[in-house]
Amino acid sequence: MRYYFICNWKMYPSSIDRARSILSDYNKLFTPTKKEDWINKKIVICPPAPFFQLFDEKRLHTIKLGSQNIFWKSAGNYTGQISARMAKDFGAEYVIIGHSELRSNGDSDLIINLKIKEALKYYITPIVCVGYKDFLRETLNILNSFSAEEVGKMILAYEPLEAIGSNNPEDPLKVEKAIRQIKKLIYQRFRKKFFVRVFGLGGNKRSIPNPAILYGGSVNAQNYKNYISISDLGGFIIGRESLNPANIKEIALGFDVGGKINN
Ligand code: PGA
Repeated sequence: MRYYFICNWKMYPSSIDRARSILSDYNKLFTPTKKEDWINKKIVICPPAPFFQLFDEKRLHTIKLGSQNIFWKSAGNYTGQISARMAKDFGAEYVIIGHSELRSNGDSDLIINLKIKEALKYYITPIVCVGYKDFLRETLNILNSFSAEEVGKMILAYEPLEAIGSNNPEDPLKVEKAIRQIKKLIYQRFRKKFFVRVFGLGGNKRSIPNPAILYGGSVNAQNYKNYISISDLGGFIIGRESLNPANIKEIALGFDVGGKINN
């Protein structure tokens, strides 16, 4: 299983020099060694867009660039926005879409779908967050708007609103239940229809996509162990704690190939 650690820097740190120094620490800490090859772990840093340039400055090892947002149109008179193409040109391979801090600023289900389409058009992996109000409805909106192949190219993240930026992480049992419910919705949406299954006739033969499902909301080096035994957990979105690379390394090392605690 592959695990994702999406480091959402939000609107931090306050200077480019500090950002450069944090990125440099990440690079040192995540350099592959004989002991830690990071092969089954993806460390994705999503900095504020003005810091994208730092990712060009040195050869980064395991670290990937993600964008915190993109606009839903490719170009035009849209003051203050960045396009998927612009993010891609800086090397962004991932983008966070549907984060509650953007849903609360007006990103509707429709806008979220358009942003996902833009990301896929430019081969950027959308990390789609659900949990702003009703995560089941938000998940269904996505599943009903995209094909099995498209859903297979996404990462989903369960991010309950109250847990984000609050020091009030979600109960691990509730996270486990939410991940199970999301997987069930995916199955119900994409299972083969009876006639296709039994007679191999009619309809499209659709396989069931298996996107990674992450948890996000006040995860830190003290509490992450409460979650990692959840069998289908594909990693975390980590906000404030991600300004501390040593703690992210500790969290990432906590996952081994089987998803069990390492120590
Ligand atoms: P937090 O943020 O870890 O600071 O709660 C999570 C997020 O932005 O998704």
